[in-house]
Amino acid sequence: MSRTDDDTWDINESVGATALGVAMARARETESESPLFLDPYAQMFLDAAAERGWVPPQGAMAERIKTIGDYAASRTKWFDEFFIAAGASGVRQAVILAAGLDARAWRLPWVGDSVVYEIDQPKVLQFKAEVLESHHARPAAAQVAVPVDLRRDWPTVLRQAGFDPAQPTAWSVEGLLPYLPATAQDLLFERITELSARDSRIAVEGFSADFFTDDYLARRQARLQQLREQAAETGHDMPDPAQLWYLEERADVATWLHDHCWQVSSVAADELMARYHRAPLDDSDDARVPSVFVEGVLNERPEG
Ligand SMILES: C[S@@+](CC[C@H](N)C(=O)[O-])C[C@H]1O[C@@H](n2cnc3c(N)ncnc32)[C@H](O)[C@@H]1O
Repeated sequence: MSRTDDDTWDINESVGATALGVAMARARETESESPLFLDPYAQMFLDAAAERGWVPPQGAMAERIKTIGDYAASRTKWFDEFFIAAGASGVRQAVILAAGLDARAWRLPWVGDSVVYEIDQPKVLQFKAEVLESHHARPAAAQVAVPVDLRRDWPTVLRQAGFDPAQPTAWSVEGLLPYLPATAQDLLFERITELSARDSRIAVEGFSADFFTDDYLARRQARLQQLREQAAETGHDMPDPAQLWYLEERADVATWLHDHCWQVSSVAADELMARYHRAPLDDSDDARVPSVFVEGVLNERPEG
């Protein structure tokens, strides 16, 4: 499926369905023997989506999601720790960009009067709200849904929802960047920086140059083709998330943030997984994600 500048989606289609893939990984981790975190909401979303006709990945695709499970779990844990540390440092305003079915506003121990803004496409947030309401789930902070496309003028919509740019903010960008064109990525970080008061923090899942190389993409494509053929034999259609990506050269996130007054530190995915005692996949495995986790603090406002 190809992308267009103004495409939209529901939870069970196009980019929306990728949020269900991540929820699947979180549900599995929650049920595992030694989970890095507990997300009881993930399975609620999967059950509700199935009731609405979503067919969970089967066979080869389900196996592949399992393969990236340790990566997804480590990523979730890292962002959890980021928000907890931001709260401990006095930040009370959080913005989760492309929140999808992220249930952090419900499951993390937010400090007192924290407020969490969640940005995503309208139908995705609507689905999420309906499922949580039907389970009488109560957020652990003030939670504000901000239904808007991140390629549009989301800062205006965010301010209208109550966001205060004079207060320091903790921003997260998880599972988003490949779904944005390179220019939209630059604009996203420009806007975040404009809206960030001193002492704001940011956490980003960035993708190293290795991610967009012909070699990596060709290996990945070949493997997926194999899996797709296996899935077809058992009557299953297997979508490829890479068809939803913008495969373009783009700015290195750590460098961009550093050049715009953020004090930055990074950890590569393999190192992060080792920290959580999860075995990284080796270089030859196409399910290995060459990504980097970048954290920044805004110690001074950029000039101009
Ligand atoms: C892979 S999911 C990740 C969701 C969540 N961050 C997580 O890690 O569980 C990608 C999410 O990005 C959202 N998304 C992608 N492009 C977007 C855009 N242009 N505007 C708003 N949301 C977008 C999708 O709707 C989807 O929920």
